Amino acid sequence: MVLLRSLIANLNPHLDRNPTLLRHVKNSTIRKSLSTTSSFVHPHVKQALERSTEEHLAVDRSTIFHPYTSLLNPTPTLPVKSAKGCTLTLETGESLIDGMSSWWACVHGYNNPSLNAAVTAQLSSMSHVMFGGLTHRPGVALGDTLTKLTGMDSAFICDSGSISVEIALKMALQYHRANSNPEKSKFITVEGGYHGDTFGAMSVCDPVNGMHSAFESVLPKHVFCRKPTEDPECIDLSEKLKAHGDSIAAFVIEPIVQGAGGMRFYSPEYLNKARKLCDSHDVVLIFDEIATGFGRAGKLWAKDYTEVQPDIMCIGKALTGGYMTSAATLSTRKISHGVSKPPSNGPPLPLMHGPTFTANPLACAVALESLNLLLRPSIDGEPESEPWWKTRVDMINHHLSDKLSAARSNPKVVDVRVLGAIGVIEMCSPLNVPEVTRKCVELGAWLRPFGNNLYTFPPYVIEEEELEVLTKAMISIIEDDKCTTC
Ligand SMILES: Cc1ncc(COP(=O)(O)O)c(C=O)c1O
Repeated sequence: MVLLRSLIANLNPHLDRNPTLLRHVKNSTIRKSLSTTSSFVHPHVKQALERSTEEHLAVDRSTIFHPYTSLLNPTPTLPVKSAKGCTLTLETGESLIDGMSSWWACVHGYNNPSLNAAVTAQLSSMSHVMFGGLTHRPGVALGDTLTKLTGMDSAFICDSGSISVEIALKMALQYHRANSNPEKSKFITVEGGYHGDTFGAMSVCDPVNGMHSAFESVLPKHVFCRKPTEDPECIDLSEKLKAHGDSIAAFVIEPIVQGAGGMRFYSPEYLNKARKLCDSHDVVLIFDEIATGFGRAGKLWAKDYTEVQPDIMCIGKALTGGYMTSAATLSTRKISHGVSKPPSNGPPLPLMHGPTFTANPLACAVALESLNLLLRPSIDGEPESEPWWKTRVDMINHHLSDKLSAARSNPKVVDVRVLGAIGVIEMCSPLNVPEVTRKCVELGAWLRPFGNNLYTFPPYVIEEEELEVLTKAMISIIEDDKCTTC
């Protein structure tokens, strides 16, 4: 303050003799220095935002890691300028119809006016506050609504799908510790599964296609049984539980659809049997509905194909309509109370999880609006009409079933399968991703195959003529020898 006073006096010696004017100048100077808005743009930021598309892509290639790529030999990327509805517009001028929903999340399309409004409204009250010791309406409203929609009892709203799986694993371990069964410290799961990229989640992904070989020395070893498609009677799970049940805390599985591990669909009967086996071996049943939730597999939750209620359920991806990262781990009362019971030989523990952005209010607010959009009656003024998501998913299902069936006669095709709003063409060998991408741009579509599977998870807002672009592209890709071989 002394410094400020002498500075002001130096600037204008008369001010020092006028206390009112001095106070005014002091306040406005302080206000200026504390101002929260600024027109300053750092030169690095300016350069990065204003460089040509070519330079932008060169920096991207040399400096930026994209998912599962090597900086020594990066796979090509397309520069997206904007996205609206189901259309991605590239800096290079092309428009692509999105068949991926940005990794299965963006069910309402991009730049959706209702979701934009929900984010904007939430921004004007608070974008974030810590959830430790504080609570807020969007967080509680979302958790409460999710428990009611899933038939579960409690919710932990967390950062991403992988993290929701970590929480589920912790819950199962803590539950057995609290029940004085600490020897139940392993997990059992099926081959061909995918549950995320964090360490706990990786350890229950497929042992061959997952990242076990890259992290073998640090990943814990769990028990794997055969894929549900190969063991519909659940015999392997039954035998492995007989052999290892005493050391198993939980069985982790994606219900009905094994997604990123191979896009396989299996019978609900497997889950009925698995529930009984888990009960008889005191094993917690965890359903990972991160990919299948919110109608994607044709029911609101894939578990709705069965009568089975899991003990823990993970949801994510479409939770915020693809707007921002968030997920949730839901549990029954038995688990949510069970984790914190005092064990016979130690102190009780709270649930040991609580990262910085737990229940971020922006994510919660947009998730609530996404639920409103999904669950609204499909016919205005008719509350009994089917929910909006169902009519959209049914329309997509019919279109995919009809148009992809043409692929069946192609000798390079092993299988064509459609469930809910998921369409898959399985080839007899891996697809050439850069070639598929090039062909897609030519055909006005955005599809990204993995392994032998060319697939689509379109946004639910997609129109028939846009779907037509995707299905035509899929048929054309499998006929192109540069994209596929056998
Ligand atoms: C079934 C399943 N579980 C977990 C995850 C991981 O979710 P996230 O990528 O949000 O961490 C995914 C992602 O594809 C998934 O499909």
